[in-house]
Amino acid sequence: MAPKLENVTFFNGHKMPIVGLGTFQSSKGEVGRAVDIALETGYRHIDTAYMYGNEAEIGQALKKGLDSGKLKREDLFIVTKLPPAGNRAESVEKYLKKSLDALQLSYVDLYLIHHPVGVQDVGGQTLPRHKDGNVLLDMNTDIISLWKAMEAQVDAGRAHSIGLSNFNSSQIKRIWQAARIKPANLQVELHIYFQQRELAAFCKALDVTVCAYAPLGSPQLSNVVRARGGDVNKLVSVSPMSDPVVSRIAEKYKKTAAQVLLRHIMQRGIVVIPKSVNPDRIKQNFDVFDFELTEEDMDELDALDKGPKCRIFNEVIAPERAKHPEYPYHQRY
Ligand SMILES: NC(=O)c1ccc[n+]([C@@H]2O[C@H](COP(=O)([O-])OP(=O)(O)OC[C@H]3O[C@@H](n4cnc5c(N)ncnc54)[C@H](OP(=O)(O)O)[C@@H]3O)[C@@H](O)[C@H]2O)c1
Repeated sequence: MAPKLENVTFFNGHKMPIVGLGTFQSSKGEVGRAVDIALETGYRHIDTAYMYGNEAEIGQALKKGLDSGKLKREDLFIVTKLPPAGNRAESVEKYLKKSLDALQLSYVDLYLIHHPVGVQDVGGQTLPRHKDGNVLLDMNTDIISLWKAMEAQVDAGRAHSIGLSNFNSSQIKRIWQAARIKPANLQVELHIYFQQRELAAFCKALDVTVCAYAPLGSPQLSNVVRARGGDVNKLVSVSPMSDPVVSRIAEKYKKTAAQVLLRHIMQRGIVVIPKSVNPDRIKQNFDVFDFELTEEDMDELDALDKGPKCRIFNEVIAPERAKHPEYPYHQRY
């Protein structure tokens, strides 16, 4: 029997379930059912964001679960994120309150700054654009004053823990040094071809836990790029679920490639949040606690890492972001 690997523990004692349900691109009309099925399956961790536009439907599903009496609020671990349009100290409370209203909750377990690059706050638009189509950046993002406003949300009881997403090591260090309440978690792209070894080691040294987004390689990302008028041909193409090494190891355990990819990350002590709206795949992605990859399998999977050249959430998504002073990916990690 594989050793229990259910949670990672934050510096403040809060525990984050190591498998959560991702909800980016889980649209209205399907995300509520996905959350229902996830809760029935045993998921307790749901990852959303103001930017995803689906918090209200997730809130309804959570309320249904809580009202049924089978679940208590303290059983759940709900994560949401401050949108880039809220990347200034005076906007944090406003956006967190909007998320809490939509989610029908009085607190979230973890509130993350979604991205270090701020955009202008134009009438609540998530990604406001100029007439020429370019995203309207806010070049004055001050991540330290932003963090102070995040800390105030913990003081006010609206977030149990706070953290970062898409920040690089220098930015994390700046925040960590200035922080009264340290970041508990960093959410970044992390998969078999981009294993983020240096960043994960850096975080470990600071006692910041890591959560992997796109753990399966985000196969539908091209839809987003197309919808935003981007060039899909410039997307880095990765298909970890069809990798022959992954498939061979999966066959050995009578598991799927997706399950091996998730397990490989989990065995590094990193949280995974695979997204699915398909009932069978939601269940499959949670059925990862009954096997353990051997050291040899782990080594073989480790060797598939190709580093930052396999970052898929890069400038293609919003090219102008790279001009922002806090754009995180000009440095290696
Ligand atoms: N902080 C950030 O900036 C950021 C960025 C991206 C993502 N995220 C978070 O991380 C989560 C995961 O990332 P992601 O959604 O980009 O990508 P992902 O979880 O790597 O991949 C999701 C895709 O894989 C498919 N899929 C799921 N399970 C599968 C399985 N067992 N077998 C085959 N296909 C499967 C899903 O389709 P079906 O739905 O049809 O099953 C969906 O198209 C997001 O949902 C979001 O919560 C955060």
